[in-house]
Amino acid sequence: MLWWISEFINNKNHLFFNLKTTGDQANMKTKRIAVCTGGGDAPGLNAVIRSIVLSSLYRGWECFGIRDGYNGLLTPEKYEKGGVIPLDRDSVRGITHLGGTILGTTNKGNPLKYPVADHTGHIIEKDVTDEVIKRFRDKELDALIAIGGDGSLAIANALHQKGLNVVGVPKTIDNDLDQTVVTFGFDTAVHFATECIDRLHSTAESHQRVMVVEVMGRYAGWIALNAGVAATADAVLIPEIPYDIKKVAEKVLDRGRQGRHFSIVVTAEGAKPVGGSLTLVSKKEAGVNERLGGVGQKVAEDLLALTGKDSRHVSLGHLLRGGTPTSFDRLLSLRFGAAAVRALEEGQSGIMVAIDPPDVKYVSLEESINRMKTVPLDCDTILTARDLGICLGD
Ligand code: F6P
Repeated sequence: MLWWISEFINNKNHLFFNLKTTGDQANMKTKRIAVCTGGGDAPGLNAVIRSIVLSSLYRGWECFGIRDGYNGLLTPEKYEKGGVIPLDRDSVRGITHLGGTILGTTNKGNPLKYPVADHTGHIIEKDVTDEVIKRFRDKELDALIAIGGDGSLAIANALHQKGLNVVGVPKTIDNDLDQTVVTFGFDTAVHFATECIDRLHSTAESHQRVMVVEVMGRYAGWIALNAGVAATADAVLIPEIPYDIKKVAEKVLDRGRQGRHFSIVVTAEGAKPVGGSLTLVSKKEAGVNERLGGVGQKVAEDLLALTGKDSRHVSLGHLLRGGTPTSFDRLLSLRFGAAAVRALEEGQSGIMVAIDPPDVKYVSLEESINRMKTVPLDCDTILTARDLGICLGD
């Protein structure tokens, strides 16, 4: 009897599948779905993974996770040492609210631009996607759900063009992906940045200082603008509007004349002065992107020189990528995961799930990659910032 109950529990997904399908569908071969997470992590990744696994099991399919982006398929060592792992109900239990990704991720080792030594020992970038595809097929996987930002989705698109069934799920705290109104992780990042800026008000006021807060976002100013406006910053500097530091200094001095002896300046890591360039931590190398960072310190030093006011800077950095996803990001992630599995059931490939509120829709992967979504200068949040007297550095 106990044996029968446990068999029933083990097979209940399969039974559900057969109950809700008929004819050809019920005879269909069990699909084997792989999922990978690539690029910088973002709150909500685990919720997407859980949604994909449960939605796949519900259809009687099998699900597998590729470890560390595409690395689990990329290097023979990783592949042989468990680069592809089975994902069952237990693997994804209780992870919806957890930051990070249970599969691991990386923003190195892009198989389209994999760093290898040439005959002179010089490091060059090589396309090794054929090896990824070979190992994918060796594992008898039917389809890939690739969760990632522009880099990972470009790889997904290349794999689709070489014949794999691929569905993309957009992810980035930066919200800079075109074709989707928002990506999961963004709301959590803005929420946390807003809370941090709120906390800086009291110390700035107590010490009559200028506090400069640098936030991530790469070449787009979404996080800085949304958090800056929500937290009532006095100036917000974004990559889309090159700043004139004298305008920011004037804002600080003007506040002083009105008896407000402190100021809060929020700067996106990609902000740059008029006629100037990005502030970098490190330049691009083979297989590794350039790293932005340091503009907050520069702005604080310039403001001290121009206003004479004590200035401090703080960079929120990777704190924006950690922690539990907001309910908005969790729900978006769960919806994206389920929609990706539905897309595979419908036989779709080469597409990305996207949100166009209130609906989730499918868009072409090809049209989604290599198109950065920056802040439109006439968008309502920019207009609101200007109406509230927030200095945008222009
Ligand atoms: O794209 C997400 C992001 O957090 C950017 O905002 C930031 O510039 C970059 O990743 C940092 O990457 P890394 O994890 O390599 O420091």
